[in-house]
Amino acid sequence: MLRNKKILIGVTGGIAAYKIPQLVRDFKKNGAEIKVVMTDSATEFVTALTLSTLTQNEVVVGSFPRLTESILQASTWHIDLAQWADVMLIAPATANTIAKLSYGIADNSVTTLALAMRGPVMLSPSMDVDMWNHPITQSNISQLQQLGYHILQPAEGELASGLTGAGRLPDLPKIQQSIENLLAETNRDLIGKKILITAGPTYEPIDPVRFIGNRSSGKMGFALAAAAVHRGAEVTLVTGKTHLTTPRLVKRIDVVTAAQMYNAVMKNKHNKDSIIMAAAVADYTPVKFYNQKIKKNLQDKNQFIIQLKPTKDILKELGIKKGKTVLVGFAVETENEIKNAKMKLYDKNLDAIVLNNPTEDGAGFDVETNIAIFIPQKGNVEKLPKMSKYQLAHQILQRISKLIG
Ligand SMILES: Cc1cc2nc3c(=O)[nH]c(=O)nc-3n(C[C@H](O)[C@H](O)[C@H](O)COP(=O)(O)O)c2cc1C
Repeated sequence: MLRNKKILIGVTGGIAAYKIPQLVRDFKKNGAEIKVVMTDSATEFVTALTLSTLTQNEVVVGSFPRLTESILQASTWHIDLAQWADVMLIAPATANTIAKLSYGIADNSVTTLALAMRGPVMLSPSMDVDMWNHPITQSNISQLQQLGYHILQPAEGELASGLTGAGRLPDLPKIQQSIENLLAETNRDLIGKKILITAGPTYEPIDPVRFIGNRSSGKMGFALAAAAVHRGAEVTLVTGKTHLTTPRLVKRIDVVTAAQMYNAVMKNKHNKDSIIMAAAVADYTPVKFYNQKIKKNLQDKNQFIIQLKPTKDILKELGIKKGKTVLVGFAVETENEIKNAKMKLYDKNLDAIVLNNPTEDGAGFDVETNIAIFIPQKGNVEKLPKMSKYQLAHQILQRISKLIG
């Protein structure tokens, strides 16, 4: 699996840094090429000499290494190294470095390269249990996950401090396996491809303070955007209201209403290899918008009727003149799922539809996992098992990549 893979390891100043020389040896035994960058603090725990001897490559420490050899002779070594690597692993990742990365601080070679990487970046946090459980560390971790960084959860057990709990660097075979899995799922099959993705809900205003919305969190569309970037695509993401952070390297366009989403999609649909409509766009919008907040007592006391009219059908319009663009829709169905999804597939002239039923445990809105059925216009219906939305995004993109050809 690791033969000829280029792995960049960022070592930061945690006690578990002493395990990294062994990890380097294990990676090399499996055929990988390794380069190492270190923070100044990391050199208190393991020497650059040890790591350069084991990797047979020069090790970069701090922000301004002495430019002596090979790749470092280029003054843009930080970009060159990021482009060289298939994957970057930060292990151990200290609480300090995690905090810096979540704010985009790039004040040493590890943080700078993590910011410059186009390929996937995995962090293996390791620290004392109270540092790990601290709300600011947990909030930074969740921010990094939303940004598209991969987090290897620390193991539980006895810690260097003598305390017991979560915070240990996982066993080295587990770290190696996680990198293998990440490399396997991040095939770079979409390099040079342009993909438009929609995500999130639309809000249809009733008056200045009220709207008709839906439960979409945007997580599936954002996972697709992050995964498409990891596979090398140039991604435009049109999103409704969501609290999610934009994944790295994604061009984001914010909209609120179905009409705004229609306009944004129509404006950005040209020259796309694929358009994936993961947004939950309102089918109906109020006929009338009240300029002032609707008062409780103004209307008939027993009922207040809001009249609705259909919104423009974005998918249908895209399907009419889609040319070579691979058009993929999402269907949320709670009954006769496959039959209804197939009707939508043919009616809207899609190349494929991803069906999910939000009432299934572990599927649908605002959860981290999803259970989906992939239905192509030509080919077999595939029921995919429950998996994270990010993993599902890769499963979908792998199939879309084949359809793009
Ligand atoms: C003996 C010792 C062990 C430490 N171990 C850890 C650790 O395991 N995890 C961690 O997050 N910080 C640990 N720290 C604190 C970090 O070294 C400190 O926050 C440092 O600023 C990290 O810098 P860096 O993130 O640039 O490498 C340790 C400090 C000392 C003195």
